[in-house]
Amino acid sequence: MQGYRAALLRFDPAADPKQSAIYEADGLLVVGPDARGTQVVQAAGDWATLAPRFPGLVVEHLPGRLIAPGFVDLHLHYPQTNVIGSPADGLLPWLDNYTFPEEQRFESPEYSAAEAAFFLDELLRHGVTTALSFATSHPASVQALFTAAQQRQIRLITGLCLMDRHAPAGLLNRAGSATDATEQSLIDSERLLQQWQGVDRLGYAITPRFAPTSTDAQLRGAGQLAARYPEAWVQSHVAENRDEIAWARALFPQSRSYLATYADFGLMRERSVYAHCIHFDDDDRALMRETGAAAAVCPTSNLFLGSGFFDYAAADRAGFRYGLASDVGGGTSFSPFHTMLAAYYVGREGQAKPGLSLSPQQLWWQHTVGAAQALGLGGRAGGPAVGNLQPGCDADFVVLNPQATPLLARRTARAATLDELLFALIVLGDDRVVERTVISQAF
Ligand code: GUN
Ligand code: ZN
Repeated sequence: MQGYRAALLRFDPAADPKQSAIYEADGLLVVGPDARGTQVVQAAGDWATLAPRFPGLVVEHLPGRLIAPGFVDLHLHYPQTNVIGSPADGLLPWLDNYTFPEEQRFESPEYSAAEAAFFLDELLRHGVTTALSFATSHPASVQALFTAAQQRQIRLITGLCLMDRHAPAGLLNRAGSATDATEQSLIDSERLLQQWQGVDRLGYAITPRFAPTSTDAQLRGAGQLAARYPEAWVQSHVAENRDEIAWARALFPQSRSYLATYADFGLMRERSVYAHCIHFDDDDRALMRETGAAAAVCPTSNLFLGSGFFDYAAADRAGFRYGLASDVGGGTSFSPFHTMLAAYYVGREGQAKPGLSLSPQQLWWQHTVGAAQALGLGGRAGGPAVGNLQPGCDADFVVLNPQATPLLARRTARAATLDELLFALIVLGDDRVVERTVISQAF
C-alpha cells in the first residue's frame, strides 16, 4: 500500500453535482491492490483522522499540491490531433477540407502507431486517464491505438469507424475478397471487439461515424452487433450542425428525427454515447433518457465550429446523462481545464435569466464522475469505477500544482473557498498545472 498526503478532491457520487465535492485541505489518499490485483483507492479522507488507521504506511508528502481524480474525456478523435485549429465555415466543409484528408493517412500502421503514441502521451500529460476515442475506418488504426493504450495502461475505448458512403474512397470501409465493404466492416468490427473488449483496461465501441456516412444496411448491422454485445459501447455524432441535420433528415426521412434514426437501427441503449446533442427537441431528450444513452458535450468544438450551444437546463429537465469531452480535433484543446471553461461559457447561453453559469464543482464533476457514469463506469453492480477517488475506485489521479504559474500562484493564494480555488484552476489552468498523472496499475 502507498499513501499520498496533499489537499484532496473527490465527489459524493450520489449527491447533486452542484454540491457533490468533498475536499480536505490536508488529506490522505491510500492506494493498494484489490482482489483482482488492480490498484484501487483503499481509503481517502482527512490526514489527521485517517493516518492513525495506517501505522507504518509509506506516505509521499506533496505539500502545496492538490490530488484530484483523473479526468474522463467522453469523446475525441485520435486521428485528428494534427487538424486542431483548422478553420472552416462549419462542420461539413471542415470534414471535407481537413479531416477526411488527414484520416486517410491512417491506412498506414506505422503512421497510426506514431500518432497513437503521441495522442495518448498528450492525454496523460493533460491529466486524462479514461477516454472514448474515435479511430479511422482502417483496422490498422484501431490496432495501433489499442496496442499503445495497453502499453500505458490508460483506460481507453475505441472502435473501427463505420462509413460505407459519402466520403472519399480512401476513407470508406474496404471490401473483402468475398464480401462487400458493408459486410466486411461489420466482420472487422466484431473481430476487433472480440480481440480487445475487456482486455486489461480496454473496451470496444461500435462506431458508425454519423448516420449520413452509413447505409441502412451498415446501421442495421451495427445495431445487431450492439444487441449481441451489451458490454461493448456505441459511439457516434448527432445534432451538431444545421446542415448536417438537414442531410441526415433527407437520407432517413422515415425516422421521426435525426436522433431517432439511431434508435430505429438499435443503436441507442446503455453505453451509447452521442457527441454534441445540440439541436434536440424534448422528444429527443426523452429518447435519450428512456434508452439510457448519454451525451458527450463538446464545448470547445461547438464554439470553434460555430455549431451551437448544448442546452444544460433542458437536459437536466429531461434527466439524461451527459459528460464533458474535448472533441479534438474539432475541439481546440486536450486540456480538461480549457474544456471546463468553455462549458462555463456555453452554460450561460441556456440561462433563463442572467446569473452564474455552471458552478466549478458541476464543471469538474462533468469531466470526472459524470463522464464516468455516462460510460457506465461509475461502479454500479461491482464493475470498475473511475473518475472519482472514493474507496474502491481505480487509482487514477492527478497531482495538480495550484502555483504552476506566477498568476495562478497569486490568484489561488487569495481563494477563500473551494469554489474560488476550482474556478481559478479552470480559468487559468492548463497542462502546466498537471504535475503528475498516476494510472492504476495491475500487479
Ligand atoms: N460528425 C461526423 N464526423 C465528425 C467529426 O469528425 N467531428 C465532428 N465534430 N463532427 C463529426
Ligand atoms: Zn467528434
